[in-house]
Amino acid sequence: MRVLSGIQPSGNLHIGNFFGMMRSMIKWQEKSELFCFIVNLHALTTVTDGTKLAHNTMEAAMDFLALGLDPEKSLFWVQDDVPEHAELTWILSNHTPMGLLERSHSYKDKLAKNMPSNLGLFAYPVLMAADILLYQANLVPVGRDQKQHLEIARDIAGSFNHIYGPTFVLPEPGIDEDMAVIPGLDGQKMSKSYGNAIDIFLTKDELKARVMAIVTDARKVSEVKDPDSCNLFGIYKLFADSDGQAELRERYLKPGLKYAEVKKELVEIIWNYFAPYREKREALAKKPDTVRMIMAEGAVKARKVATITMDMVKERVGLIY
Ligand code: ADP
Ligand code: TRP
Repeated sequence: MRVLSGIQPSGNLHIGNFFGMMRSMIKWQEKSELFCFIVNLHALTTVTDGTKLAHNTMEAAMDFLALGLDPEKSLFWVQDDVPEHAELTWILSNHTPMGLLERSHSYKDKLAKNMPSNLGLFAYPVLMAADILLYQANLVPVGRDQKQHLEIARDIAGSFNHIYGPTFVLPEPGIDEDMAVIPGLDGQKMSKSYGNAIDIFLTKDELKARVMAIVTDARKVSEVKDPDSCNLFGIYKLFADSDGQAELRERYLKPGLKYAEVKKELVEIIWNYFAPYREKREALAKKPDTVRMIMAEGAVKARKVATITMDMVKERVGLIY
């Protein structure tokens, strides 16, 4: 089975990315053919500072490698290093009805946030469909926010297959419902672009500052608290096993709990959780050329697979003459 997913280098990777997608991706390398890539072409839709994009691309690569992605067991590369992603996008755009893209929640959300509308933003799901279909992926592990993009990829594949005969595998979304939406500091979905994230790799002081900024309600210490509507509980439970979660729930349901104390505990828990990866992350940061080489080798392997699909697609649509 082929498992594939990508992540945008549009900012520092955070614990929402980790629990929503990265952790399950890394596990897949043990039991499937894993395709994992950094989607720098997608990030162009929001990042207009070239130095920053290049920097974030390297950072995302180092984060994944430090967290356990093994380039020997999986294919790991940077999207633009395989030009077939952009090439297939153009071919697929001829099989993408405007209405399909006009219904995209993520496009509508971006417009609602006053992002300037342009063709790249509108065509984002077509590039994502190309990413997936190029490698004939069976399963795409993502957070719930990406479900509609997967449906669009399936629709595009279906209409292409209908016209030209079976060409693309129809991909299934792999959404872990327990981890579908990780809340941010303010209770909205944690996102690089909302300024409400706890990054995976922070200094201890930065981590403290972020955790202390988690918004809680105004209930007094003497009052009982509601774990299910509490954002702090929502983040804490990611790091606790079922006993740990039950214990904290009990503390919420009795008078006396201080949010500040829970926050202090949470700082230590997050710090220790990522400790084994932090050392590896620091070592990689000292060897950027090694990281570049790993990504370049990954792109060579990915391109071999991409070329098989592209040759078939070009033949079917008549680009080979
Ligand atoms: P961001 O919103 O921070 O820019 P991306 O859109 O790059 O994140 O998402 C990368 C992956 O991480 C996707 O699979 C996405 O579904 C997942 N993801 C991002 N934020 C969350 C979250 N808060 N909860 C669960 N999954 C998330
Ligand atoms: N749109 C995805 C996100 O923001 C990133 C992405 C691009 C992706 N191409 C992909 C995810 C292909 C899975 C498969 O999270």
